[in-house]
Amino acid sequence: MKNKMEKIVALAKRRGFIYSGSEIYGGLANTYDYGPLGAELLRNIKNLWWKRYVSRREEIVGIHTSILMNPKVWESSGHVESFVDPLVECKDCHKRFREDHLKEKKCPDCGGELTEPKLFQGMFKTQIGATEDTGAETYLRPETAQGMFVNFKNVLNTQRLNLPFGLAQIGKGFRNEVTLGNFIFRTLEFDMMEIEYFVEPKDGEKYFEEWKKEMWSWLADLGIDEKRLRWREHEKDERSHYSNRTEDIEYEFPFGWGELYGLAYRTDYDLKNHSEKSGEDLRYHPDEGEPFFPHVVEPTFGANRTFLMTLLDAYNEEDGRVYLKLNPKIAPYKAAIFPLLANKPELVKKAREIYEDLIKEFPVAWDERGNIGKRYFAQDEIGTPYCITVDFDSLKDNAVTIRDRDTKKQERIAIDKIVSFLENKIIGK
Ligand code: GAP
Repeated sequence: MKNKMEKIVALAKRRGFIYSGSEIYGGLANTYDYGPLGAELLRNIKNLWWKRYVSRREEIVGIHTSILMNPKVWESSGHVESFVDPLVECKDCHKRFREDHLKEKKCPDCGGELTEPKLFQGMFKTQIGATEDTGAETYLRPETAQGMFVNFKNVLNTQRLNLPFGLAQIGKGFRNEVTLGNFIFRTLEFDMMEIEYFVEPKDGEKYFEEWKKEMWSWLADLGIDEKRLRWREHEKDERSHYSNRTEDIEYEFPFGWGELYGLAYRTDYDLKNHSEKSGEDLRYHPDEGEPFFPHVVEPTFGANRTFLMTLLDAYNEEDGRVYLKLNPKIAPYKAAIFPLLANKPELVKKAREIYEDLIKEFPVAWDERGNIGKRYFAQDEIGTPYCITVDFDSLKDNAVTIRDRDTKKQERIAIDKIVSFLENKIIGK
């Protein structure tokens, strides 16, 4: 019997959600590529997040900054010194582990003796310039946050923002992780959706609590099973170097509870350090009173972990069928359109007209292969919420059968009502 994770990995590959990276060359461990359906799902997650936290929030603005930054950024931010993990190697099987993740002083795989820990830099080094000796060394960013801190002054100079306000960014982060695996849970590069929320120092704890509620609501609104979610507070020695308080939302993955998102109270750590080291005044200047460094509450959402969680959470098996109960807002296709029979040109023509109208509004699939049962099966498996069939009656009554993925119930609706039907279900007016 395959477990849920193995089923999801197989489904993701078979239906074009996720492939192993560089597969034709034997792959590159812990890198993954998103296929047509995966690219759509990942983008829908990011768009939904952007809409919720940037488009619909007056006090949060979006930003899009470079992955490559002046290496001084990473010195000032504390990453060069502190974004390091203690690494140990088994003297027998030569597997490597993070010392702080081990419960015992022996190799967890073979029981062998471990080496003394060595510090391992978690940022990827890279070279800018033509040759190694003349080029400058820098890093691929391990978090998008620093792009927001170093642009703090630029944004304040170009927008009218009063505390509290937020900067939000979606982008890639890179980490030379020691322990990897569990499919896309921990990879070398990943997409982060981050907010730096700037507040008056006295309000830090208050907004921390607000963001805690908000992060949970985002998951509840996505339709995630709340029994599989929990908060976990970091111990003092577990917290990142910049944080005064950190709580993670964890999801119960098939391999156990794992971090989904992090919420950190970064205080004025970053702005203060960048201000000191760059010589720029990164304080907030209120209309009245003295300038000061605002405090930062930082909710960070991993996009790929959201992706993995939504697939796992949506996976259902029932009476021999597999269906992904994805929230229609993020489902790759919102509907699929079928002519009842592929060899009846009048049905194909009518169905094609509907398809071409709908594709202007939503991503929709077309299928005319095999029998209707097989087409339902194929769409259920990729989470398409509605299947629309054009049959012989449609030619007379200008209506179609629309079938619900989760209940399998079918109803008849007029062709000119399909768009508003789908809009209601998807946008959820
Ligand atoms: N700026 C804050 C920050 O970087 P983090 O907890 O280190 O915080 C944020 O990372 C989120 O990014 C995590 O909660 C997780 O969702 C995701 N993440 C971190 N490392 C990852 C990795 N190696 N692969 C996939 N996602 C990762």
